[in-house]
Amino acid sequence: MKRSCYVGELSEAFLDQEVTLMGWVHRRRDHGGVIFIDLRDREGLAQIVCDPDRAETFRTAESLRNEYCIRITGKVRRRPEGTVNDGIRSGQVEVLCHELEVLNPSVTPPFLLDDENLSENTRLTYRVLDLRRPAMQKNLMLRHRVTMAVRRYLDDLGFVDVETPMLTRSTPEGARDYLVPSRVHDGYFYALPQSPQLFKQLLMVAGFDRYYQITKCFRDEDLRADRQPEFTQIDCETSFLNEEEIRGIFEPMIRTVFKQVMGVDLPDPFPTMSFADAMARYGSDKPDLRVKLAFTELTDVMKTVDFKVFSGPANAKDGRVVALRVPKGASISRSEIDAYTQFVAIYGAKGLAWIKVNDVKAGREGLQSPIVKNLHDEAIAAILERTGAQDGDLIFFGADRAKIVNDAIGALRVRIGHSEFGKANGLFEAGWQPLWVLDFPMFEYDEDEKRWVALHHPFTSPKDGHEDLLESDPGACIAKAYDLVLNGWEMGGGSVRIHREDVQSKVFRALAIGPEEAEAKFGFLLSSLRYGAPPHGGLAFGLDRMVTLMTGAESIRDVIAFPKTQRAQDLLTQAPSPVDEKQLRELHIRLRNPVVAQPGAAQDSTS
Ligand code: AMO
Ligand code: AMP
Repeated sequence: MKRSCYVGELSEAFLDQEVTLMGWVHRRRDHGGVIFIDLRDREGLAQIVCDPDRAETFRTAESLRNEYCIRITGKVRRRPEGTVNDGIRSGQVEVLCHELEVLNPSVTPPFLLDDENLSENTRLTYRVLDLRRPAMQKNLMLRHRVTMAVRRYLDDLGFVDVETPMLTRSTPEGARDYLVPSRVHDGYFYALPQSPQLFKQLLMVAGFDRYYQITKCFRDEDLRADRQPEFTQIDCETSFLNEEEIRGIFEPMIRTVFKQVMGVDLPDPFPTMSFADAMARYGSDKPDLRVKLAFTELTDVMKTVDFKVFSGPANAKDGRVVALRVPKGASISRSEIDAYTQFVAIYGAKGLAWIKVNDVKAGREGLQSPIVKNLHDEAIAAILERTGAQDGDLIFFGADRAKIVNDAIGALRVRIGHSEFGKANGLFEAGWQPLWVLDFPMFEYDEDEKRWVALHHPFTSPKDGHEDLLESDPGACIAKAYDLVLNGWEMGGGSVRIHREDVQSKVFRALAIGPEEAEAKFGFLLSSLRYGAPPHGGLAFGLDRMVTLMTGAESIRDVIAFPKTQRAQDLLTQAPSPVDEKQLRELHIRLRNPVVAQPGAAQDSTS
C-alpha cells in the first residue's frame, strides 16, 4: 500500500481524505477507551486516534509500544477544539484510524527519544535510536542541504568533482598519519590522506583548472569538541587565480550557502585582517569578533618598571605584556577574579594581575590593585591612556612568553565576552561574524625540534618579493595564505601554491628538508611541477565545523552520523578492535605486547 505523504507533512490540505502513513510509535496514550498514537517519521509527528468501534484495530493499538514500526490507514479530521497543537505542522488535524498494521515491533528502547539528559556514551552506543531523534534528523538534513548548495554553486562555476585516493602516501598537513599495512608488500604501509592537498595540485598540473571534492580526511591528533579523527572537507583548487580572486569565488559560496540553507545574510564583503593584527589585538589567528574586547600592547613601557613579573617578559626576546580592559568590570568580584586566575593557568599563565579603576582623574590614587605600587607613573599613565580606561572598569594583565600571553589572555577575552556579565554589559554581540585572516607567516619556529616548520604546509607560496627571505630571514617571510574564521572557529583555509620547482626547493631548504628527503617524499609533485605547472591555489572548508555552527550544536559529533569519541573510538561498532592472528600474519605484523581486553571500551568517555 502506498504512503499518502510523510507523517510530518500531514496538514489541513488532507482534511476528509483517507490517508496511509508509515512511521514509528513515538508515544502511545490511553485515554479512557480511546488510544492516541503520536506517529513519527523524519518530517515530524502526527496524531492517530484509535477508538474501540473497530475492535481488531483497537486490539492491535493496545499492543503498540514505543518505536514499533507501523502502517496506518484512516480519515483525516479536524482536531476537537482545545486539542490543537500549534507546535507541529499537523497540529490542526488528526487521523481516525481504520486499519493498523505492525510492520515490525521493537524491543524496549534503552531511553525515551525526547529525554534531554542522555549521556553522550549512551547516545553513541545506541546511535541508531539517537539518530531517530528529531534534533539529530534536523542536523543531518541541514548538513545535506549544505552539501547540495555547495555542489550547485561549484557546478555552476565549472568546478569538476574528482575523487582522490584513500590509500596513499603520507601527506604533509602536520598531524600524525593513520597507516594501513600492505599485505602484498612486506613491511610497507599506505597512509590515509590528511587532505587531498597534493592530488588536487596534480589535478591542476593535469589541466582540470577547477576541482572540488567533498571528502574525508584522516588525522591522528588529540581530539577536541571541534575535531574528529576523520572529518569532511569541502576541498577546492583553481588555476591562474591570485589570492583575492580565489577568495572572490569562495566568499560568495559561503554567503550563498548561509542564505539558501538558513535564510541568513552574511556581511558583504567579509572583513579582512592580517595575521599580525589578529595576534596583536586578540592573541589569536581565529578571533571571535562577536566579543567586543581587545588587547592593549604594553610591552614597550613595561621594560623599565621595577616589577619583575612585567619587566622580565617585556625585556625577553619573545616576551609580551598586554592589558585587557573590561568596561564596567569593577563589579566583578574578587572570587570571580580568582576563578579567572585559575582559568588562565590552564594556558600556562603564572598569574593574572588586575587594576580596578575607581577614579581615572585621580591617577594612581584612583586605582585599586595589587600591582600599582610596583609601576612607575609613566607606566600607569600609559595603561590608562592606551586602554582608554573609564571609571568602573577592570583591567587585566598578562606578562609572559608571547605564546602564553596570547593563549591565556585570548581565552580570557572570549570567556569574559561569553559570560553572563559580558552579555549583560554589551561585550558580546550575537550574530554571525566572518573574518578572513590574511598574510600568515610562512614559518613558525618549533622550539622542541629547534627548526622552522611550515605554518600552513610546505607547498604554500611566499608573497611576491619575499622569496629571498626564505633563507635569509624565514621568520619575516609572509605567505600567500588565508583562513576563513567564523565566530571564533577556523572554518577553512588555503593558499596560493608554489608552481615553480626552484621556489619549492628553497622552501624545502628553509624547512631543513634535504633534496633526498624531498625527492623521496614528494618526488611525484616536484617532477610534475617541471611539466609546465600552471599557477594555482585553493582552499578547504571544514564541513563538519560549518554545519556545527549553523545548527548551533555543542559538538562536531552532533552533525556526524557515526562519529568517534574523544578517545577515537566508535562505540557503535566497537572500533578499533583486536584482529585475528591470521590477519596479522598476512600483514607481516607481530605485536610487541599481547592485546589486553579493553573493559573500559564501552564506557569510553566523550567529555
Ligand atoms: P587545513 O588543515 O587548514 O587545510 O584544513 C582545512 C579545514 O578543515 C577543518 N579541519 C577539521 N575539522 C574537523 N576535525 C579536524 N581534525 C580538522 N582538521 C581540520 C578546519 C580547517 O580549516 N590542504 C589544506 C587546505 C588547502 O590548503 O587548500 C588543509 O587541509 O575547518
Ligand atoms: P606577585 O608579585 O607574584 O604576588 O604577583 C602580583 C600580581 O601579579 C598578582 O595579582 C598575580 O596574579 C599577578 N601575576 C603574577 N604573574 C603574572 C603574569 N605572568 N602575568 C600577569 N599577572 C601576573
